[in-house]
Amino acid sequence: MDDWEKAGKITAEAREFGRKLVKENTLAIEIAEKIEKKIIDLGGKPAFPVDVSINHIAAHASPLINDQTKIKKGDLVKLDLGASVNGYMGDTACTVEVGTKKYEKMIQATEEALKEALKLAKPNTKVCEIGDAIQKKIEEYGYTSIHNLSGHEIKQYTIHAGITVPNFNNNDKRELKEGMIVAIEPFATDGEGRVMEGKPSNVFSLENIKPIRNTNARKVLSYIQKNYKTMPFSARWLKFPNINFILRLLEKEGIIKQYPQLVERRKGFVTQAEHTIKVGEKVLTA
Ligand code: CO
Repeated sequence: MDDWEKAGKITAEAREFGRKLVKENTLAIEIAEKIEKKIIDLGGKPAFPVDVSINHIAAHASPLINDQTKIKKGDLVKLDLGASVNGYMGDTACTVEVGTKKYEKMIQATEEALKEALKLAKPNTKVCEIGDAIQKKIEEYGYTSIHNLSGHEIKQYTIHAGITVPNFNNNDKRELKEGMIVAIEPFATDGEGRVMEGKPSNVFSLENIKPIRNTNARKVLSYIQKNYKTMPFSARWLKFPNINFILRLLEKEGIIKQYPQLVERRKGFVTQAEHTIKVGEKVLTA
């Protein structure tokens, strides 16, 4: 097994473990931290902070330090997670509805759209053909695919690299190539089908290393370089005093960048499914 396969296997196992944690009255931070610990116990590192995005929040909602968000009955919860083995990463997502069955069809829409996409995702398939299949399947279920979120190629230490795989027919004629590592992630909604930036997520990644005068900030920066390289990390993971102040400083200097939460523009509810594949070979996160 190579490191891509190991990362994929850990990612899949952590997703199935995480799915069972999504229950009424559980804190989102507890779910995220347990999944992150599971990834480490299985021999990986989190490729990015686990996202627990609820209802109209489509993506990038990783719990903050001391986050008090609790899962409620009727919530539509997207878990998005990945494991890294030496920078080779898996990326996967699933959607769980808590205690009700109102969004079963919307959950099925993204799962079926993902299946269609995986069938098509062979060497020399154009990415717009995959987008077209995803869009059609989601519309068949009576929902809208989210147009400004997309799947992506993965390269070592870079979770969003190279080509993107759209969730609609965007006419992009670029092709998948044998051996490429690609994450495909359909999103469905009963809203507008576009997301906009929401609150800050406290998830960051290294952007541009440059000298910094503040000694504590220098310590944090070297810790980030050593432990995460260019992979996203959470403020939760950095056990340094005054960490929020230091992160703001690094952000202001352009050394790190922060990812905002992504929310549906008309506050429509959102479902997501995601797998990482090695094109022409297999689904790594099955
Ligand atoms: Co992804």
